[in-house]
Order: sequence, then structure tokens, then C-alpha cells
Amino acid sequence: MSKITAAITGVGAYLPEYRLTNQILETMVDTNDEWITTRTGIKERRILKEEGKGTSYLAIKAAQDLIDKKGIDPKEIELVIVATATPDMKAASTSAFTATNIGATNAFSFDLEAACSSFLYGMSVAARYIESGKYKKVLLVGADKNSSMINYEDRATCIIFGDGAGAVLFEPNHEGYGLQDELLRSNGEGREFLHAQYGGSSYPSTPEAVAEGKHFVFQEGKTVFKNAVFNMADVTERILKRNNLTNDDISWLAAHQANRRIIEATANRVSLNPEKVMMNIHKYGNTTSATLPLLLHDYESQLKKDDKIIFAAFGGGFTWGSIYLKWAYNS
Ligand code: UT7
Repeated sequence: MSKITAAITGVGAYLPEYRLTNQILETMVDTNDEWITTRTGIKERRILKEEGKGTSYLAIKAAQDLIDKKGIDPKEIELVIVATATPDMKAASTSAFTATNIGATNAFSFDLEAACSSFLYGMSVAARYIESGKYKKVLLVGADKNSSMINYEDRATCIIFGDGAGAVLFEPNHEGYGLQDELLRSNGEGREFLHAQYGGSSYPSTPEAVAEGKHFVFQEGKTVFKNAVFNMADVTERILKRNNLTNDDISWLAAHQANRRIIEATANRVSLNPEKVMMNIHKYGNTTSATLPLLLHDYESQLKKDDKIIFAAFGGGFTWGSIYLKWAYNS
């Protein structure tokens, strides 16, 4: 029997309606459209405003979009992974709630948290279940309601993050399409530069901490920027080399949308034509676990069977990595 590879066979997405534009941010903090655009490439982000709706709301909508597009029976899904840095609640799996609400009643499910690399790591995990031969339909959702942990008085972070979700279905392939190789890394020394300190197990929330805003995301932007540029470019270059790929062989770069300049630096390191660089940061900002599936969603109509896609991500922790995947279908 031919080797089983794990192919992406469908994509879905969901974005909340409310658009937080640079112009609106100008009225909230000391910033301006010109600074945000030149430093980050972001023009607007989507925010989930409705009270009581969390990450699962986004995840369910994205998964439902995929199920409707593919016309699959959700009861056939065997595993639901929700990659997220903003779970609905502590001590209750966001993925279990998501799976039940999309009708995936025969699936088991778990959350996967690796900050902005959550979806990339999730691709690796989903692929292992498929490659084992035991599972035929694995749903991987990347979803984050970043607005739940952002201080909209802190211009260093509130201009960057947005809410959103994307979903992909992994299925076995016998023609060699799907995930080919991966290079995943982490370094815990990075956590002092990007974190939300209070609200976890080290420092549970206290009224004093909340009053001081210590439960919000803090980022030392410059340090994170330098590490992101170096590490994302490094793993991208290495995965190309060890798969004997030149820049001409690559069809697309799908890089985590944290900052336009980081994405361009990664593309430049491997001398990639800008037309091959997927980009939608201007529309959604940094949606953490959702950036990669949202890229696939926005570019799906342009993707062709056998396209060679290089994925790359970098995030808090630090966590980062690169994945090489051969696209399995024409839209
Ligand atoms: O997805 C997880 C990984 N995260 C990332 O990859 C994000 C990495 N970091 C970045 O993208 C960038 O560091 C930022 C976009 C966050 C900041 O850009 P920067 O070019 O590193 O700016 P900076 O923090 O060095 O600030 C430059 C100047 C400062 O003023 P002075 O000291 O030069 O007078 C800041 O006070 O820009 C000022 N500044 C702002 N001005 C207007 C900082 N934030 C803003 C703002 N609007 N929102």
C-alpha cells in the first residue's frame, strides 16, 4: 500500500462584522494611520463585540463554513483540534464545546496552545493522526478572540491584534499531497517579552492586578520583532534547503501575519518574488491562531493542485517553525 500523507481537503473561515479601523484607533489612543500602516501594514481588524461570545463562537462559525462548503456529515469527523491562545474558559475545553455545537458527536477533541504558532503546531499534530492510518477526518480550527486580553488604552498592543477563525480538514492522501516536512522550535526564555502575566496559574487574577491592567497582553515589541525576523527566516531557509527547493520551486509563502515587515524579511531571506507572498494583514491584523487558515481561505481560489506552500510562524513563548505542504486540490 502507498504511504499515507495528510492533505488539506477543505477550508472555512469566520470574521466578526465589526471593523476597528486605524481611524477609529486614532480617537482611542495616541496613534495615527500613517504610523500603523508603515510600521505594521495593518489598516483594520475585526472585533467580536457581543457579550458572552468567546473563541468557540468564532471556531464554530469557521468550522460550519467548512462543513457547508464541503458538504460533509459532521458525524464523520473523528477529531477536532482547536488551536487557540484565548480559550473560552479555564478548566473547560473550548474544542469540546465547538465539536458538540457543529454536530461532531463521534469526535474526541482537545485545545492546543502555542501562542501565535498554535495553528502551525496543530498542522503537525493533525498530520500525525492521519498518517497513523487510524483517523480519516481531522478538523483543525485556529481561532482567537484577542480583544478579550487587549488593553485598548495601550497603543503598543491595541493596534496589532484582531479576532477571527479559520478551519481546515485533514484527510489521508495516497498520491503524496499534503504535509511533507516540518521544522518546529521553542525557547522559553522568550516569555518575558510577550505575555499576559495575571489570570494564569502563576499569578491568579486579583482585584489589584486587574485594576492595574496586569491581565492584559504586554509586548516588548522590538525584542519580539528581532526574534521573529531572525527565527522565521532561519527555519524557512532551512526547510527549503533540506527539501532541495529553490525559490522558483515555491508557489506560496503563508507566513503568520504579525507585521508586514517581518513577513517581507522572511520572503527576502529566500529571495521570494513578492507575488508569491500571501498577505491579508491589512484586513485583519494579527489574529494569532487564525492567521494561517485565514490566508488559505482568502487565497483558496488561486491555489492549484501540487502548489508547494511554505508555512511559517513565530509567537509568544517563544514558539516558531516552518512547514512544507503540497496543496491537494483545485478549487
Ligand atoms: O504575533 C506574535 C509575535 N508578535 C510580533 O511579531 C510583533 C513584533 N513587533 C512588532 O511588530 C513591532 O515591534 C511593533 C509594531 C509592535 C512596534 O514597531 P516598532 O517599529 O518596533 O516600534 P517601537 O516600539 O520601536 O516604537 C518606535 C516609536 C517609539 O517612539 P520614540 O521612542 O521613537 O519616540 C514609540 O513610542 O514609535 C512609538 N510608538 C507609536 N507611535 C504611534 C509605539 N507605538 C506607537 C503607535 N502609534 N501605536
